[in-house]
Amino acid sequence: MPKLETEIAGIKMKNPVMVASGTFGFGKEYAEYIDLNKLGAIVTKSITLKPREGNPPPRLVETPAGMLNSIGLENPGIEGFLAEELHFLAKFDTPIIVNIAGESIEEYAELAKILSREPTVKGLEINISCPNVKKGGMSFGMDPKLTAEVIAQVRKSALSLPIIAKLTPNVTDITVIAKAAVEAGADALSAINTILGMAIDIETGKSRLGTLTGGLSGPAIKPIALRMVYEISHTVNVPVIGIGGIVSGQDAYEFILAGAKAVQVGTANFIDVEAPLKIIKELEAYLNKDLPG
Ligand code: DHB
Repeated sequence: MPKLETEIAGIKMKNPVMVASGTFGFGKEYAEYIDLNKLGAIVTKSITLKPREGNPPPRLVETPAGMLNSIGLENPGIEGFLAEELHFLAKFDTPIIVNIAGESIEEYAELAKILSREPTVKGLEINISCPNVKKGGMSFGMDPKLTAEVIAQVRKSALSLPIIAKLTPNVTDITVIAKAAVEAGADALSAINTILGMAIDIETGKSRLGTLTGGLSGPAIKPIALRMVYEISHTVNVPVIGIGGIVSGQDAYEFILAGAKAVQVGTANFIDVEAPLKIIKELEAYLNKDLPG
C-alpha cells in the first residue's frame, strides 16, 4: 500500500497535499462539497489583529493561464476568527495551520502568542509576502533583515508551535530570504506567494483591478515556482512546501522532485472544488510509479 503520510516540522499529515491560504476561506464553503478530512492540511486565509475590509473592487482578474488578485487581506480579525471560525475547523481530523499577517513586527508576535494557546492550531504560516497592502506584508519578505526580525519575534511568541515562513517571489535571490528565515527560527518554508502583476483595460486605459497592481497565481507561474522551490530546497535544511500553479498530480510530483516535502493547492480550488482530492489520488500513483504506459 502506498505511503502518503508525511510530516512537516512535527505536523503530521495523511498526505502531502495542503490547501493554500486565501483560496479556501476557513473551510466552510468547501465542506459542503468535499470531505475536509481527506486533505493533508488546511491553511486559513490570513488573519490580522483587527478586522480588515480589504481593497476596493474589482479584486480578481482572469489572465492567460492564471489570475490576478488584490483582496487586501480582508478577514474578521483574530477575535472574530476565534469566535466564529476556528470551532468549525476543530471538527476535522486535519491539521489546521493559521496564516498570519501584520503591519508591524509586534502585530505578528501578538497573533502568534494568542494562537499558541489554541490546541486546534497545529502550526502558523507567516505571511511576509502579501503584495496587496501598503504597510507590512511583502515589504517584510523582500528584506532579509526584516524577514529575520519578524520570524525571530514570532518564534519567541509562538512557543512550541511550528512556524512556516511563506516567501515572496518578488525578490532577486529568494535563497537569501530563505536563509534569513531559517536562521531566525523558521521550522519550514512555503513558496511561492503570488508574483506582482498588472492588467489594463484598453477602454479606460486604467488598471482592471481596484488597485493598480495585484498578485498573479495559477499555472502561468508554475515554472517560476518550481525554479525557486529547487533553489530554496538546495540551500536550506528545513522542509519546503511547494506552491504555484499546481492543478494536477503531475504538477505536485514535479514540485516533490524539485525538493518539496509537501505542496499547496491554491488557484485550482477556484476551478474545481475537488482539485485537491484529485491531486492526492494522482500524486499517489506517481509516488508508487504505478502509472499507465
Ligand atoms: C493577499 C493576496 C495575496 O496574494 C497574498 O499572498 C496574501 C494576501 C490579499 O490581497 O489579501
